Amino acid sequence: MEMLLRQAESLMADTRDPWANMANLSAFLFHELQDINWLGFYRVRANGLLLGPFQGRPACVHLPPDKGVCAHAAATRQTVIVDDVHAFPGHISCDARSRSELVTPVLVDNRVKVVLDIDSPVPARFTVVERLLMEKITGILADYSDWSVLT
Ligand code: SME
Repeated sequence: MEMLLRQAESLMADTRDPWANMANLSAFLFHELQDINWLGFYRVRANGLLLGPFQGRPACVHLPPDKGVCAHAAATRQTVIVDDVHAFPGHISCDARSRSELVTPVLVDNRVKVVLDIDSPVPARFTVVERLLMEKITGILADYSDWSVLT
C-alpha cells in the first residue's frame, strides 16, 4: 500500500494540471488494483456530477445531485463504501457488472471538487485499508493540482 502511495505521488509530480493528474491516476489505479471494472472521477457541479477522466466501459455522463453513491459521498464529504450496490437505495448502475463500490470525495479549500469512484464486480470488495489509501492519494491530488482551471 505504501508503494502504491509513493508511485501515485510520483505520477503527479510533473504537472499541477488536475485533468492530467486525474487521467494518469485513473489509469494507474485501474491497472494496479485487482477486481475492478470501473475507476474514475466525477466533477461536482451545481446541477449534479459530470463525468471526468476514467478507465473502464463508457459510463453515465451526468449524475443527479441527490441520488446515487457519488452524490452521497459528495454531500456527506466522506468516503462511502457500499458492499452491495443493490442494497443501496438510489444506487445508479452505469455498468451492470458492478457489485460493490467505493467513492472518496476530493476536498479543495474545504469544498468537494471531484469524487473518485471505484466499482468492483466482487461483493464487499473494498477494505478500510484501501479507503485510507484512496483518501491519502486523493489528498495528494488535491494538494498538488491547480484547481483554478476547473470553473
Ligand atoms: N454508481 C454510481 C454512478 C457512477 S458509475 O458507478 C460509474 C452512483 O451510484 O453514484
